[in-house]
Amino acid sequence: NFNIFIDKSFDSVCELAAQEILDFIKKKPNAVIGLATGNTPKGLYKSLVKKAKEQNVSFKQVTTFNLDEYVGLDEKSSDSYNVYMQKHLFQHLDFDENRIHLPSLSKDIEQNIDDYQKLLSEHKIDIQILGIGSNGHIGFNEPGTKFDSKVHLADLTESTIYDNQIYFKDTNNIPKQAITMGIDDIMKAGKILLLASGSNKRKTIKTLIDGQITESFPASILKKHPLVYIYLDHHAALDI
Ligand code: GLP
Repeated sequence: NFNIFIDKSFDSVCELAAQEILDFIKKKPNAVIGLATGNTPKGLYKSLVKKAKEQNVSFKQVTTFNLDEYVGLDEKSSDSYNVYMQKHLFQHLDFDENRIHLPSLSKDIEQNIDDYQKLLSEHKIDIQILGIGSNGHIGFNEPGTKFDSKVHLADLTESTIYDNQIYFKDTNNIPKQAITMGIDDIMKAGKILLLASGSNKRKTIKTLIDGQITESFPASILKKHPLVYIYLDHHAALDI
């Protein structure tokens, strides 16, 4: 069920994914888009900004939901996904800040989870963008997370904390928990666009494509989704 796009250059596949999103918004200006963070979507956002300006596409009526946010960071921390999203996407286009949603960084975790789940349940995500963790996590749904999970507090695995340390200036303060959409929330999206680049994702992508559906590799559930587009550079696609 996977539609796979591979190109030598990751920029080219990002352009394809960006165009897919823009074409959807042209047809449905009030689309609901699920957003991801990490290194991988940066190229997609760059391309989306450039193309949206060239093609005069407005994001005023678009609603967004991010997959996740760290827990324990200061609300003003530049390491937060809130700041990442402003920097790489929101500030460059005409988004309505009232339609942008991420889990909050405020201290009341239970309340944040309830609020986020409630907001999500009032919307249907049309297109969900995903990266993939090297251990197969999506959002911050780490191996072992139940496929029927909803928004929850996730304990990050040692390998994820290790992978993410490159994004933190202060490596003593890398968060060990995050609030994430659950796997069930992700699976409700109408269409899923998953991006991966680089040889460090090569094994992960092979497991995604050839492996069994198992909670020990969370992304494997995508095999049950009817509409998944996977965008890869040739390094990530080397083993498939
Ligand atoms: C983090 C995010 C995921 C992302 C993953 C991979 O754990 N929560 O949503 O997919 O990192 O990140 P990268 O693209 O930097 O490899």
